Amino acid sequence: MALRNVVKMGDETLRKKCKKVEKFDENLWVLLEDMFETMNKNNGMGLAGPQVGILKQIVVMEVNGAKFEMINPEIIEESTETIDDEEGCLSVPSTHGIVARPKEITVRFQDRYGFFMVITGEDLFARCVCHEVDHLNGILFVDKMKKKS
Ligand code: NI
Repeated sequence: MALRNVVKMGDETLRKKCKKVEKFDENLWVLLEDMFETMNKNNGMGLAGPQVGILKQIVVMEVNGAKFEMINPEIIEESTETIDDEEGCLSVPSTHGIVARPKEITVRFQDRYGFFMVITGEDLFARCVCHEVDHLNGILFVDKMKKKS
């Protein structure tokens, strides 16, 4: 495993749209392990491909002690009810702010072997998925931030 460099805001990589993963091979698995290591080392809750310079639809998260890896994630349902809460991002150091996110979402994704999975979750999980999926579309939380906190 190896630590990867975290790309910071201002780098155009963070503004590009990511491509779908089509090969579920060892290269992907190494990348996933590196992303977990990089996220944990930096005390993050989530990390998306572009944040390590990889323009592919890959997300890792650790929420409430549970690890998730999502390949080609797609939010297929979201509640109309939203919650305002604080967010930060390893690519936007020393900025925190309030963002509205759906209270509950359902996400469909593939695991590291290419099998499809669907998870419904709320609150912090929902917030984290929305934040990371935004990364895959070149969107940063500061674009949606209501105010700094
Ligand atoms: Ni982020």
